[in-house]
Amino acid sequence: MLSFDGKVVFLTGANGAIGRATVNLLAELGATLWLTDLSSASLGGLVEDIRAQGGRAEADGVDVTRSASVDRSLAACAEAFGRIDVLIANAGIFPRGVLSDISDDEWRRTFAINVDGVFHCCRGVTRFMPEGGNILALASIAGHRGSRDHAHYAATKGAVLSLMRSLAWELAPGIRVNCVSPGPVDSPMVAELMQHRGEQVLRGTPQQRLAQPEEVARAIAFMASDWASHITGQTLHVNGGSFIGG
Ligand SMILES: NC(=O)c1ccc[n+]([C@@H]2O[C@H](COP(=O)([O-])OP(=O)(O)OC[C@H]3O[C@@H](n4cnc5c(N)ncnc54)[C@H](O)[C@@H]3O)[C@@H](O)[C@H]2O)c1
Repeated sequence: MLSFDGKVVFLTGANGAIGRATVNLLAELGATLWLTDLSSASLGGLVEDIRAQGGRAEADGVDVTRSASVDRSLAACAEAFGRIDVLIANAGIFPRGVLSDISDDEWRRTFAINVDGVFHCCRGVTRFMPEGGNILALASIAGHRGSRDHAHYAATKGAVLSLMRSLAWELAPGIRVNCVSPGPVDSPMVAELMQHRGEQVLRGTPQQRLAQPEEVARAIAFMASDWASHITGQTLHVNGGSFIGG
């Protein structure tokens, strides 16, 4: 069976919709979890639940835009658990704005979190990742198709996709590197999008609904598991068919 027994997983953005669903699933599958988000306090309940069910988890406050913060947490995880088998670079923001309204600061903030954050995690984790480990980043359908009124977001996710493909070459054969690319997920992140263009989004989705966070979590679990042992440099799409167009 698909199992994370004996695997140490470092995850960013653990307090988000996809983060929480992923944490709950990986805990069920036996992972030892190092959960990070901007504040460790926000993760307290999640950690308590995992421990109450006999699992192992720690929470840490990390700002992915700051490499020192990321490096400190990676080192603390490796010290506590011995190594890091899996990195899930999940933290991200989805700001809205038409081109003329995107300020320099907003452009840089989006790149700082969505791209620099992934880069900091990937660069730092290799010191602690043994052969057979793997890195997974959350991209987005926006990184493949673009996203109206979210050009800065789409640009960051395109950058993540090419960063991860490049690292798949560089870190092979010991470490696999992949992306999961969701379409819109039933979560606070897309509440505003659904308010503005919800009907259009659903019309363009063969399955005619948003993904549930748990459905993205299952794709993450597969790609991060040994079941995906010969998969690297790839992107697994989770979008109800919307990528094929119509
Ligand atoms: N929700 C969607 O519809 C959707 C679709 C496609 C891709 N994605 C991607 O999936 C990932 C997770 O999305 P989500 O829906 O769970 O989002 P979310 O907003 O629920 O969670 C994101 C988490 O990232 C954290 N975060 C933000 N800035 C940070 C920083 N500087 N340092 C550390 N953590 C920070 C937030 O605190 C939050 O807990 C993101 O990368 C997102 O772009 C989401």
